[in-house]
Amino acid sequence: MAKNAVITGWGFYAPSRVVTNHDLEKLVDTSDEWISSRTGIRERRFASDGETTSSMSTRAARMALERARLRPQDLQMVIVGTCSPDYIFPATACMVQSEIGAVKAGAFDVEAACTSFVSALAIARGMIVSGAIQNALIIGAETLSRFLNFKDRTTCVLFGDGAGAAVLEASNASVGIESVVLHSEGSKGDLLMIQAGGAKIPATAQTLELGQHFITMAGGEVFKLAVKSMADAAGEALTEAGLGLDDIALMIPHQANVRIIEGVAKRLHFPMDRVFVNIQRYGNTSAASIPIAICEAEATGRLRRGDKVLLVAFGGGFTWGASVLEWFGAHDGARPAGVLERARDTLEDVVERVRPA
Ligand code: ACO
Repeated sequence: MAKNAVITGWGFYAPSRVVTNHDLEKLVDTSDEWISSRTGIRERRFASDGETTSSMSTRAARMALERARLRPQDLQMVIVGTCSPDYIFPATACMVQSEIGAVKAGAFDVEAACTSFVSALAIARGMIVSGAIQNALIIGAETLSRFLNFKDRTTCVLFGDGAGAAVLEASNASVGIESVVLHSEGSKGDLLMIQAGGAKIPATAQTLELGQHFITMAGGEVFKLAVKSMADAAGEALTEAGLGLDDIALMIPHQANVRIIEGVAKRLHFPMDRVFVNIQRYGNTSAASIPIAICEAEATGRLRRGDKVLLVAFGGGFTWGASVLEWFGAHDGARPAGVLERARDTLEDVVERVRPA
């Protein structure tokens, strides 16, 4: 049985459509100055008409698999963390499984709002360490632009779209995902929610008229609870990993608001120069924010093999959690799969698809 799980592949996709604060000034009574000073956001990406949570997830997934040098047909589990799935069902993970050709994998979605990626990480790590599976593809992806009320300036300026993915594999080294903690407080669910479209308030002409299919949020309340909860979870994850803040090379928090991130760092007495922030370019991409940040941290040289990393998230539900991991990076000598390997994979995929059931 594996001692631990490590991240061996990572990838992300951000839609090409950039929406700046100035663009939003034309839609609602807001200003670049208000948005950037209150949130740190300068621009975000919105999915174009044909793009969805599953299509963005698929692009991120392919990158992560290629980096891990793992063939889709060898993948055992696909988990998508999202609160903006393509459909209520089938699960977005099933669409990704089909698109990437993960013909032997199980697939399901996890919904814990902005904490979904950390939740997916906890599940995948648990399944790997228990011996149930050897690898998993975990994804955080959102198309929240489709759930924004562009008449509500208090929410529509905050969110963006995108997807980030990671491949987790069994490892016999004791290091890897060293701890994951998850918490929730369901009694506060109504402070951040989408009211209609579910079983309790099904879609009707009236719910549409009332705009109940859009995100609503009591921003101030969320803000206060987010700072305390994220700081507490970070401390707990560190204790469980047997580490202190001095051991952490980089904290990668959920990107909801730069003031929340600064508040968490201040509460922990952790220096901001060891905190990864990219909210200025993406806004709050909910479940996608941590995996996108992981990819950008790696690409900019801020994640090196052996670094201890602290992930920390907070979102609707309320849900929150944190994880301490040791960054493994790509397999030694890793490089994108060669032409021959890709041709073999494609051929195997075709054979698999045309084989009679
Ligand atoms: N442009 C201009 N003015 C605005 C805007 C805007 N876009 N939005 C609100 N205002 C106004 C308000 O109407 C208010 O005006 P008033 O004083 O005349 O009533 C004023 O600005 C101050 O509003 P506050 O709500 O006090 O602003 P605050 O400083 O609290 O910032 C914000 C609001 C950015 C929403 C903040 O509370 C926040 O970031 N909250 C947390 C959001 C979050 O973390 N969500 C996480 C999870 S998301 C998920 O799980 C899917």
